[in-house]
Amino acid sequence: MNKLLEVKNVVKKFGGLTAINNFSLEVYKNEMIGLIGPNGAGKTTCLNIITAFLKPNSGKILFEEKDITNLSSNKKACKGIVRTFQANNVFKDMTVRENILIGLNNSEGVGFWTPIYTFFGKNQTATLDYKVDQIIKTMSLDEYRNIRAGSLPHGFQRLLGIAVALTTRPKLLLLDEPFTGMITEESELLVSIIKKLRKEREISIIMVEHNMKAVMELCDRIVVLNFGSKIAEGIPIEIQNNKDVIDAYLGIDEGEKV
Ligand SMILES: Nc1ncnc2c1ncn2[C@@H]1O[C@H](COP(=O)(O)OP(=O)(O)OP(=O)(O)O)[C@@H](O)[C@H]1O
Ligand SMILES: [Mg+2]
Repeated sequence: MNKLLEVKNVVKKFGGLTAINNFSLEVYKNEMIGLIGPNGAGKTTCLNIITAFLKPNSGKILFEEKDITNLSSNKKACKGIVRTFQANNVFKDMTVRENILIGLNNSEGVGFWTPIYTFFGKNQTATLDYKVDQIIKTMSLDEYRNIRAGSLPHGFQRLLGIAVALTTRPKLLLLDEPFTGMITEESELLVSIIKKLRKEREISIIMVEHNMKAVMELCDRIVVLNFGSKIAEGIPIEIQNNKDVIDAYLGIDEGEKV
């Protein structure tokens, strides 16, 4: 298997608190990694460092074997590293379709407020519409395409957040708690969408998530963080039976994990 991302001995301190302690991780092409652990373990901080929303105190990030530690978030996005956020961050007054169009607009390197159709011209409109349709289809958002994002059921707002991330055709997609606040039907839909996505295109995913059913069903490999340190790494069955992981996280009451 080909290595896509390598996180090497990353340390991140916030004042006296070591949020990430000598963390290393390898992600291969087409692999899906689950990053789990208790609240405050450092999972979001890890994603922030990989995507350059935060700078590490020490350590390195390699992507396709090149050192990208000091690249900006934008440059990393251009290379194919894209994330979603723990909170919904779609444009609530715009429709599903418009949110995706804006994502495509940004990813084509056009200024944010450039009127989309003015820039692309008529010839490219068809291509753009095709791209929007593809993403809407992949994310099962067909029936909501002309609905204001703010009026969508919560779970579908989260699906839209992922749809916007897909506009850049990421090689590495980082999802921060995509299942948060979803009702059972929405969670089941998202599990099937992620499976479909992985079949449809070459993509590696790191997913931070507290929904263990989804993590165990979807991820090839799971990495467990506790107080900023990696305490275990393995396939789902190994993690489920790992005593350190059960003590630190899996044994904790469901209600206290979220
Ligand atoms: N910008 C910041 N400034 C100071 N401390 C921070 C900052 N961001 C995170 N922390 C601290 O770093 C630690 C790790 O936080 P992080 O958000 O990465 O945890 P997490 O594993 O994502 O938790 P959760 O499951 O609750 O989302 C926590 O103790 C948190 O309070
Ligand atoms: Mg977090």
